[in-house]
Amino acid sequence: MTKPLDPRLEAAASFVEPGAVVADVGTDHAYLPLYLLETGTARFAVASDINRGPLERAKQNAARAGMTSRMRFVLTDGLRDLDPGRDGVDHIMICGMGGELIARIIGDSDYVKKPGVRLILGPMSSPEELRRYLAGAGFRILDERLVESGGKRYAVILSVWDGIARTFTPCELLLGRANIARNEPLFRDFAREWLERVNTRIEGRRRGGLPVAEDEALRDEILALPCMKKETTGEEGSV
Ligand SMILES: C[S@@+](CC[C@H](N)C(=O)[O-])C[C@H]1O[C@@H](n2cnc3c(N)ncnc32)[C@H](O)[C@@H]1O
Repeated sequence: MTKPLDPRLEAAASFVEPGAVVADVGTDHAYLPLYLLETGTARFAVASDINRGPLERAKQNAARAGMTSRMRFVLTDGLRDLDPGRDGVDHIMICGMGGELIARIIGDSDYVKKPGVRLILGPMSSPEELRRYLAGAGFRILDERLVESGGKRYAVILSVWDGIARTFTPCELLLGRANIARNEPLFRDFAREWLERVNTRIEGRRRGGLPVAEDEALRDEILALPCMKKETTGEEGSV
């Protein structure tokens, strides 16, 4: 069996439906598709990477796991030469890159808009930029998970295209609507940390004579979250 997944990839795997045909973009070691094949969740996997070294690593790990015949390997930028229709890909996983790069990769492809295609996205940074892109480009965020790995927090997003553009508030962009609604303990810590960060930024900007209206609006929105109730009313926050 291939290495157990870290919490970030485990969260991504949890969004995959049984019998899936997955494409793992930026696969590197191919831990994610190998896990999905070995656990019987996926039937077939396309593993791609823009760099030769990571793709070779993926091929070697697949051979070691005896999974080569259930995988296809593609050296390409994002989804450009992936030809996902060839294998009937229904799950596109893009994890371990920045939010802007993930957004660019999605924006370059029409296949992501195909009915029934699920996008599972794990930005390493700028999740708010990815949410902004998804909302504006007609992708619906069905669910999210917030996980901790190596002392850092990561969002993992499940999304599908429905063609309806949406607008999120600054707080929803930053923290994720589904995370706000679920209000788990990890999220509460995360929201409180952001509140401190925004307060520090407001003080710094005030000292520098810079405008603070946007940050104050964000601060007020964070303060109004259910998880902040404890501080303001003495009640525990609830979903
Ligand atoms: C940090 S690794 C992430 C590996 C794995 N997906 C994960 O989340 O653990 C990022 C991988 O994305 C690949 N990558 C970066 N830009 C890419 C692009 N535009 N298209 C495809 N792969 C890309 C890199 O070569 C690298 O192997």
